[in-house]
Amino acid sequence: MTYSPATFSAPRLSPPPRLLMGPGPINCYPRVLAAMSNQLIGQYDPVMTGYMNEVMALYRQVFNTQNKQTLLIDGTSRAGIEAVLISCIEPGDKVLVPVFGRFGHLLKEIAERAGADVHTIEVEWGEVFTPEQIEEAIKRVRPKVLAVVQGDTSTTMLQPLEHLGEICRRYDVLFYSDATASIGGNAFETDVWQLDAVSVGLQKCLGGPSGSAPITLSDRYVEVVRKRHHVEAGIRTDQHTEGKGSRIGSNYFDIPMILDYWGEERLNHHTEATSMLYCARECAINLLEEGQENVIARHKLHGDAMLAGIQGLNLQPFGDLKHKMHNVVGVYIPEGVHGDALRGQMLNDFNIEIGTSFGPLHGKIWRIGTMGYNARKDAVLHTLQSLETLLRRAGHKLSPGEGVDAALAHYASQA
Ligand SMILES: Cc1ncc(COP(=O)(O)O)c(C=O)c1O
Repeated sequence: MTYSPATFSAPRLSPPPRLLMGPGPINCYPRVLAAMSNQLIGQYDPVMTGYMNEVMALYRQVFNTQNKQTLLIDGTSRAGIEAVLISCIEPGDKVLVPVFGRFGHLLKEIAERAGADVHTIEVEWGEVFTPEQIEEAIKRVRPKVLAVVQGDTSTTMLQPLEHLGEICRRYDVLFYSDATASIGGNAFETDVWQLDAVSVGLQKCLGGPSGSAPITLSDRYVEVVRKRHHVEAGIRTDQHTEGKGSRIGSNYFDIPMILDYWGEERLNHHTEATSMLYCARECAINLLEEGQENVIARHKLHGDAMLAGIQGLNLQPFGDLKHKMHNVVGVYIPEGVHGDALRGQMLNDFNIEIGTSFGPLHGKIWRIGTMGYNARKDAVLHTLQSLETLLRRAGHKLSPGEGVDAALAHYASQA
């Protein structure tokens, strides 16, 4: 339809009041939504650069790091991944990616596009790697970079990272992790675990929308990418010296230039996405005010209650539960139930979204999240109650009331 001024009448935007209980995105914390609606200010307004510095300090706390270079990449989580990988990988560099789900494949693909010689090791979806498996592969491949996902939402598994930093230091490997899906709801210790680069997003346990990718970079990582520092023409001055390394293959994701913008020089690069910066700032404050440990404990409490409820509904959880993320559970779709049809009914009749799955798990499991603002008792109970109704009507054998009762029993046991 074309609009002319005389007939112009577009309906007001009015998204339905969904409860987002999938693997992300989830409903935003109301204070995060409110923060985004603040008026814009100029890029070099001292108030704005003050906010940028504040965001750096806040995310140092979120990542548990002293890394000076802790900042936002504008774009969704994969913008953070691309920036980190394309800036440190020179064509032909070896990169090792342990793949235990869809997002390991994404790291592989992004590293390949950056020209890396990528080596992978794989486990079945639903499992994670031991440090010994990763060390053995590092010894064999001798990569420049180890790139590993912490929490892979496609399988709901959480890869333990705590022993990998020490291994990477021993073999002089840069250690990068994508913690998009896990940060905030599961422990993450950048410095203690000796990570060199981490990237995340806001739309999972941090309780914001997608569109900003916080990253943190060690001095070791920064030293590597600084060798590829080439300031773009038009803003380059005689004071700038060219790095000896090859020019980074992306202007937008060129970390040395982005650091010049976030640093004292404030050298122009992109126009910072101001509303997303407001939002990222609020997500961090929200987390730190409640207390990181309390937020992780809340994700564990509601994640375990959801798991108990799922089992109470006579459903089978997916994967190695010892390594499940706190914030999402995979659930086998029972025999005789049409997975997508039931998800459609959850959405249309109950306004509740639960997740489908990818690759080898497509059509086999649903993924149900309890994260950020939705890591709440009422959200868990409404989801279980609605699921019970639809499962019963689809012919799945269950004892009415047992899903919600099992979740309530879990809450009572933790009170
Ligand atoms: C572990 C992980 N990495 C990366 C992404 C990609 O994030 P985005 O869609 O924000 O680019 C996701 C999204 O679900 C994710 O779970």
